[in-house]
Amino acid sequence: MGSEKVIEEKKQGQALLTEQIDGNSKKLYIESYGCQMNLNDSEIVASILSKEGFNTTHVMEEADLVLVNTCSIREKAEQTVRKRLEKYNAVKKINPTMKVGVLGCMAERLKAKFLEEEKIVDLVVGPDAYRDLPNLLEEVNAGRDAVNVILSKEETYADVSPVRLNSNGVSAFVSITRGCDNMCTFCVVPFTRGRERSRDPKSILEEINELVSKNYKEITLLGQNVDSYLWYGGGLKKDFKNASDIAKATAVDFAQLLDLAATKFPKIRFRFSTSNPQDMSLDVIHTMSKHPNICKYIHLPVQSGSTTVLQRMNRQHTREEYIELIDNIRRILPDCALSQDMIAGFCGETEEEHKDTLSLMEYVKYDFGFMFAYSERPGTPAAKKMPDDVPNDVKKRRLNEIIQLQQQHGLYRMEQFIGKTVEVLIEGSSKKSDAHWKGRNSQNAVVVFPKGTEKVGDFVQVYIENCTSATLIGKKV
Ligand code: SAH
Ligand code: F3S
Repeated sequence: MGSEKVIEEKKQGQALLTEQIDGNSKKLYIESYGCQMNLNDSEIVASILSKEGFNTTHVMEEADLVLVNTCSIREKAEQTVRKRLEKYNAVKKINPTMKVGVLGCMAERLKAKFLEEEKIVDLVVGPDAYRDLPNLLEEVNAGRDAVNVILSKEETYADVSPVRLNSNGVSAFVSITRGCDNMCTFCVVPFTRGRERSRDPKSILEEINELVSKNYKEITLLGQNVDSYLWYGGGLKKDFKNASDIAKATAVDFAQLLDLAATKFPKIRFRFSTSNPQDMSLDVIHTMSKHPNICKYIHLPVQSGSTTVLQRMNRQHTREEYIELIDNIRRILPDCALSQDMIAGFCGETEEEHKDTLSLMEYVKYDFGFMFAYSERPGTPAAKKMPDDVPNDVKKRRLNEIIQLQQQHGLYRMEQFIGKTVEVLIEGSSKKSDAHWKGRNSQNAVVVFPKGTEKVGDFVQVYIENCTSATLIGKKV
């Protein structure tokens, strides 16, 4: 029930390691913050730099290049990165040839500010400019500052084969869309990651195939808004209406992509994230029900249970439409788990609107939740037009009420598994005990059970005997 989705809390900021390539003599230290897409982007960056002679290291002091892939979603995320930059600069005093670069959303948001005003980094690279890293590094080595924050209409890094970082060797992430067109008024993503575009299905299937040949067992298809996926030969989603008739007729949407992947790789588990209520189609739900290898779990952020707040957030659906979607999911996929993102204390939120959020939660009883107090982000429509007028203590109190309720619901959902047998993909040893395996079931619940002769990457049937609000405890059958 953590309040931080995405890269697991523990992994936030951990230096990312890949296989070492013989002959690569330079050392790259790379840290990632924020969403799963950022972690996947770091894998793309590591791939591009491995061709430039870099191997990854987790010892910052020995690095030739330190990169931090940043998140701008909440103010706290940016503050964390600020602290890291101070640390890098302290290390630079010991290791003066070391170069420091900022990647990702903060690079995009603050652009040259880091270089020109603050002079704390050598390199600033936005999320669509990673192919330019080799040129930018040349600039840096010639003693010049280097910045590229141009956002692209086409870039999907389709042909870059990510080097998997800190992987458990079992589950991997594959990006299928970049950017977002939804313009939720609170959200900085459309500004930092650009307009929405989809990746060629052929390159997606090829990447999955490569992962399968390396023995990966679970693939999560990633995008800020995966349900909006639409391939019609390349280009922005918003330009689809101008595409040729043939391009329109042969276009591939998300339900079709899921169907293609699940059919082609029946032994692989598929997950996807994130779904947006306004873009999720019944076709997707039917495709999930058709394929046992598509996990029965949907992350379906709603942000608020109040139609008037949803309007102010520019979410394109009402409370009633969301409930209808939930009802359809429950009807077609009775064993599907659901999770939410919620924002407490958005601009103008009244006590009554907040109660609507709690009552929606009561209705859905989400399995998991990721809950945040609203924090104004510079440049967003809300920052420009709507006063951030809910007092901090009220925001915190509402957030706590939401978290408390989610904890109850999480426990309730976990209890429903007691006495049942679930299929678990083993990901590794349990954090708490080396004598236990840890894995997840289709519904994304963490399951721990005593080790036997099975190994990491095996699918096993586990009988659930007990649970906490975050973990199922059982034994292999
Ligand atoms: N579609 C994206 C959403 C990215 S932002 C995805 O792939 O998950 C993740 C979550 O952060 C949002 O769903 C929202 O709940 C929260 N969030 C975004 N902007 C925020 C803000 N300004 N203040 C508080 N929470 C915010
Ligand atoms: Fe942000 Fe809304 Fe897109 S939350 S990422 S603008 S769907």
